[in-house]
Amino acid sequence: MLQAGEWAYSKTLKEHFMNPKNILQGEDTDAFDGVGMEGNLQCGDQMMVVIKVDKEKDTITDCQWKTYGCASAIASTSVLSEMVKGRTLDDAFHISPKEVALELGGLPDHKIHCSVLGDKALRAAINNYYTRNGQEDKVKQEQAKVICQCMNITDHDIEDAVLEGARTYFELQEHTKCGTVCGQCKDETEVLLEKYKHIHFGA
Ligand code: FES
Repeated sequence: MLQAGEWAYSKTLKEHFMNPKNILQGEDTDAFDGVGMEGNLQCGDQMMVVIKVDKEKDTITDCQWKTYGCASAIASTSVLSEMVKGRTLDDAFHISPKEVALELGGLPDHKIHCSVLGDKALRAAINNYYTRNGQEDKVKQEQAKVICQCMNITDHDIEDAVLEGARTYFELQEHTKCGTVCGQCKDETEVLLEKYKHIHFGA
């Protein structure tokens, strides 16, 4: 059990929280090739990620960010901003929250969803770069699909609930109210529940 004052986080995470890397200074983003925003201040957290791109090699040469997020969001995005430098846009687009958590030396399960904010904003910045440079065909939209018609619950809502701790169908229902009317969405929901548990937690 943790003693009073003891941190539940790894040394690497603490280092990135106390000394975050690549913080964007000021408001001017003109010098950057792609800008991505994610989150909503009214919900308590918002993230901006900006990137510079080597257009010959399609690689990220710089990545900076700023956030109104929690310690886990700050540490995750700090380490992510280091991880993406030198990577191709396509490679960076596919970095998962699990890879970021591993690089941080672990992240408590209930905090994984905080790390998603940074990589969503990174994907938005990459899509913004493609759009600005006439490469709309490469833009990968994260379209949500409605799974529960009765309660208007999407696959993204189900993924968020898993990231916030839902591990069983019952817990998912508690989080989202998915499947609480006609129940016809149950099979598809259970498949997605297992898929997201596997992707994010290797379960
Ligand atoms: S479709 Fe989900 S409860 Fe009806």
